[in-house]
Amino acid sequence: MFKSHLRWITNLPRVKPFYAVKCNNTPTVLRMLSALDTGFDCASKGEIQLALSLGVTPDKIIYAHTTKPLSHIKYACAHGVEMMTFDSEDELLKMSLCHAKAKLVLRIAVDDSKSLIRLSSKFGARLVSVGKLLERAGELGLDVIGVSFHVGSKCTESLAFQQAIADARHVFDIANLLGFQMSLLDIGGGFSGREDFQVKFEEFSEVINGALDEFFPPDSGVQIIAEPGRYFVESAFTLAANVIAKRVVIDDMDEHCDSEASPKRMMYYLSEGVYGSLSFLISDPNHGKVEPYLHRAVESSEQRYRSVIWGPTCDSTDKVTDNYWIPELHVGDWLLIDNMGAYSVCLSTDFNGFERAHIYTVVTAETWHAFIKPDRPRSTPVV
Ligand SMILES: Cc1ncc(COP(=O)(O)O)c(C=O)c1O
Repeated sequence: MFKSHLRWITNLPRVKPFYAVKCNNTPTVLRMLSALDTGFDCASKGEIQLALSLGVTPDKIIYAHTTKPLSHIKYACAHGVEMMTFDSEDELLKMSLCHAKAKLVLRIAVDDSKSLIRLSSKFGARLVSVGKLLERAGELGLDVIGVSFHVGSKCTESLAFQQAIADARHVFDIANLLGFQMSLLDIGGGFSGREDFQVKFEEFSEVINGALDEFFPPDSGVQIIAEPGRYFVESAFTLAANVIAKRVVIDDMDEHCDSEASPKRMMYYLSEGVYGSLSFLISDPNHGKVEPYLHRAVESSEQRYRSVIWGPTCDSTDKVTDNYWIPELHVGDWLLIDNMGAYSVCLSTDFNGFERAHIYTVVTAETWHAFIKPDRPRSTPVV
C-alpha cells in the first residue's frame, strides 16, 4: 500500500485520493491510509462511523453515494460531514430537509463501456438533465460545489477519463453560469491495483494529467480529488485457504483419448469459496481465472492431477476453479491466492455457518509504529 501511495503522488500530484472504504474496510488499511493523509469516500453511516472512530476528521470524508437513507444524511450532518454526492431531484429534496448546509457534488453519468464493472446504468445524472437539476438546487438554496464521475471499475481505456473530464468541464460551465461557485472535481475510481493489469496506472495518469491541464488548469483553483478503491488494496492481500476435505474420483478410462493421462480426478474442498472471500467469482462476470498456488515449492517433475477446487458450502455453484492441474494435495494443506484485497473480505458471508476469513497484518515494525499502531502519536510525520 505504501508503494501504491508513492506511485499515486508521483504520477497524479494534483489529485488527492479519497480511498473508497467499501472496497476493503479493514481498520489496518484505513489507519495506514489515514496516516498517509488520504481522504475517505464513505458510502453509508456505517462507513462514516468507522472512519470517524479511527480519528479521521469530517473534512477528510466525502459521503459519495447518490441514494442515501435519510437517517444516514442526518448522521453525516450531526457529525460535520459536509461533502456529499447527488444525481437526482429527490436527493436534493432530502438534503434540503436534513442537511441544508451540505456541500453538494453532482455525479454525472459518463461512458463506462470500457470498464469491466459498469456503474452508469445505476448512478449519475445525464448531461441533458444537469441544467434542470442545478436550477432546482439553486431554488432550494443548496450549495453545489463540484462534479464527480466514475468511469466504472477496472477501466481498460485511459481515454475514458479524458472524455469524462471534458464532460465535467461542460457541467462546471453550466453551473458557473447559474451562479454556483464550483471548486471541486472528483474523478472517481476505476484503477486496477494489480501489476499485471492490461493498462498501467502510469498510462491513466498521463491522460488524466493532460485532460486536467486542458480543462481544469492549476490556476482555475479547482481542487481535484479521486475515489480509488481497488488501486490501493488489491495487491496488498493474499488469501490463504485451507484444504478441509478431499475426494478422489476415478473417471471412466474410455473418456481419455490420451493413454498417458491419469483417470484420477481430484476434488478439493477449501475453507474459502464464493460465499466467502471469493464472491467476485459470481458477482464479476469478467473476473480472470483464479490460480491458487501451493504454499510450498513445487518440483517440475512432480506428477500433476486434473483437479476441481470447491468452496466449503453445500452449494454446487460454490466452485473456485475447474480443470486445474496441480500436484496432489492433502487435507490440511494451504493454497494461496494473490491480489485478494479488493471487494473480497467485505463481501463475504457466513452462509452454511462458515466463518469469515481472519485478517493478519504482516508489516515491518517500522511501518507498524509509524502508520498503523492505534495509539501512534498524531504528530507522526507524513511522508
Ligand atoms: C462511488 C464509488 N466510488 C469509488 C468506487 C471505487 O471504485 P474502484 O474500486 O474501481 O476504484 C466505487 C466502486 O464501486 C464507487 O461506487
